[in-house]
Amino acid sequence: MLRLLLLQVLASCLWLGHSEVVTSFEDCHQFFYERATPSDALHPKKLARICQRYSNSYHYATLYDRDRRIPVYSAYIYGTGSGKKPHTPWFVEPSTDTFSSFYLAKLINETYLKDMDTESSIEKKYKITAQQIGESQAINQDYNNLQDLNRGHLSPSGHQSGNNSKTATFTLTNIVPQNSTLNKGAWNDYETKTMAEKTEDCKTTYVITGAVPGNTNIPNNRVNVPSHIWSAACCLVNKKRRKAWAVIAENDKNEVENLSLGDLEARLTELYKGKRVTLFSKACPR
Ligand SMILES: *[C@@H]1O[C@H](CO)[C@@H](O)[C@H](O)[C@H]1NC(C)=O
Ligand SMILES: *[C@@H]1O[C@H](CO)[C@@H](O)[C@H](O)[C@H]1NC(C)=O
Ligand SMILES: *[C@@H]1O[C@H](CO)[C@@H](O)[C@H](O)[C@H]1NC(C)=O
Ligand SMILES: *[C@@H]1O[C@H](CO)[C@@H](O)[C@H](O)[C@H]1NC(C)=O
Repeated sequence: MLRLLLLQVLASCLWLGHSEVVTSFEDCHQFFYERATPSDALHPKKLARICQRYSNSYHYATLYDRDRRIPVYSAYIYGTGSGKKPHTPWFVEPSTDTFSSFYLAKLINETYLKDMDTESSIEKKYKITAQQIGESQAINQDYNNLQDLNRGHLSPSGHQSGNNSKTATFTLTNIVPQNSTLNKGAWNDYETKTMAEKTEDCKTTYVITGAVPGNTNIPNNRVNVPSHIWSAACCLVNKKRRKAWAVIAENDKNEVENLSLGDLEARLTELYKGKRVTLFSKACPR
């Protein structure tokens, strides 16, 4: 009986949690200032562009690294309007090219997460194996029992307005293994206090938050642990005036460094050992 209920809930959530893996950000260009996406210098070998869609609308955009199973960045428009931090399970994206999504997680009762039946029900229903689901993305099990690391949002729920937009941030394609002290500490201060201060005179603020791949993986060897986490913002104060700022944090310290946008781009160019990294259009001051 319970299992039947679970299946029904799963089925409805599957429909709700629909996201699109696309070849360009065409359906979600609006989350990039002047529709300008960051330069290719950040691109991994195997990538996916995801227009993060939930409950029939788009909420932000993510560039995803399919080999390392972490996002490269998420781009969104800063909002702090209504909506409670949701109690939501975690979404993952299909590893196949189908346009549906899976709601694998802490549904109803956390303990069902370990129930293989639940997974196989999804497999049967959607004709996909767990292995396939996890082939080129992280799944919930990857994030269990990590030491000193937890799920760090690139596009955080606190920077979205409205229940659906907040809920939409709880997808593993928007998550990296982040030092838990940093996540709860200096990074959280940046997300809450610093962003609130800096955006006080902003009409619209475009944000891109990313992770630099590191040299280590989580113990099961499936998911990369980023060396750095960074964030850049370009804010429209009025019709003419723009301002920009940026931060970067090493993922094994509880410190967030303030930088200009230009300095962050230069730092990322070094860290990616390649072509010049640009994050925002020329209109944003460096
Ligand atoms: C979840 O299920 C377990 C085992 O069936 C039970 O012990 C636990 O109380 C349940 N938790 C919640 C929050 O319902
Ligand atoms: C958002 O969620 C809260 C709490 O779950 C609820 O009270 C509120 O009505 C929801 N708002 C909308 C617009 O759905
Ligand atoms: C996380 O950061 C804390 C505080 O700086 C540090 O002591 C710890 O070693 C770090 N752990 C990992 C896994 O990076
Ligand atoms: C970075 O800037 C914010 C806001 O201006 C400030 O509160 C914070 O202390 C600065 N951090 C450092 C490490 O200087």
